[in-house]
Amino acid sequence: MMMPPLTDEQADGSNYERSTGGSVLTESSQKSVFDIIKNMEATLRKQGIPTARLDAEVIIGYYLNRDRVALYRDGDYVPTFEELNSINQGLARRITGAPVAYIIGRKEFWSLEFEVNQSVLIPRPETELLVETVVKLVQRNRMSGMKILEIGTGSGAISVALASELKSGRFFAMDISRAALTVARKNARQHGVSSRIFFFCGNLCEPLKDAFDFVISNPPYISEHDYEHLSTDVREFEPKAALIAGPKGTEFHRDIINGAVPCIRKGGGLVMEIGYGQREAVERMLRQSEKYDYIGTRCDYAGIDRIIMARRKE
Ligand SMILES: C[S@@+](CC[C@H](N)C(=O)[O-])C[C@H]1O[C@@H](n2cnc3c(N)ncnc32)[C@H](O)[C@@H]1O
Repeated sequence: MMMPPLTDEQADGSNYERSTGGSVLTESSQKSVFDIIKNMEATLRKQGIPTARLDAEVIIGYYLNRDRVALYRDGDYVPTFEELNSINQGLARRITGAPVAYIIGRKEFWSLEFEVNQSVLIPRPETELLVETVVKLVQRNRMSGMKILEIGTGSGAISVALASELKSGRFFAMDISRAALTVARKNARQHGVSSRIFFFCGNLCEPLKDAFDFVISNPPYISEHDYEHLSTDVREFEPKAALIAGPKGTEFHRDIINGAVPCIRKGGGLVMEIGYGQREAVERMLRQSEKYDYIGTRCDYAGIDRIIMARRKE
């Protein structure tokens, strides 16, 4: 179904239906890219979306196949009726709370572009610290030909980013979700690293007999209580199985700390992402297992303890 272009009247959002049915525009006029950005920003702001301007630029840029620079360079361009129809559909989805990454089907991580859909968590910028930590550990120890296992690979962002940095490494990336693994495989192919990443489906470390140089994971770590208080964008659109851990939020860390022991060679490392306020509990689990030493943490740019690492005892 075709939809007429955005008009000034829609700038206050009054003519948009708050439903998955999309925006409903009542009047047609010749609007430039500049006008459409302004109108969409106003509409999204009215919906309480704090990133309204950026979201408008990204959504419009996606449907017009232009990056942000080109969007402003061609600001006087008047989109075709078909282009406006697509932009309106993107806007309607954003109004229902759909994250921009799912609307445009991609997300940047570690300066690489990843395909995403609703079967995978949208990779977060703070997870880049996990990638950076592993790269530094490998470089500091002058390792080559290392074997790394990632538990819960989702979109494949971590393993693909690592494979693009560590050219001699071999990666084993697993997830319990087959739909997520389909996305991860595509991303590995897209970035030319699929020959060095072996994807497989499983539950934590269960199917594994091998010992790796590193076991790494950004596991689900939201407690059941906190999950109920997440924003709509996250709760209603991102996969629950990628987020929720259990009553405490650290249940996956506990299971990985205990279950991964036979999968890490002696002297090898365990590196995991943790959530706000989880450091003490996860450190305690590592100490109590008596299988790890050299326990350390790293903070993200917001000063939150984000990465925990430990060595499997020799
Ligand atoms: C927080 S997401 C991380 C995704 C991706 N690694 C990232 O950082 O963007 C956690 C992932 O763990 C997977 N997962 C959940 N339970 C699992 C289990 N029992 N065994 C293996 N993977 C699991 C989810 O499907 C999800 O892809």
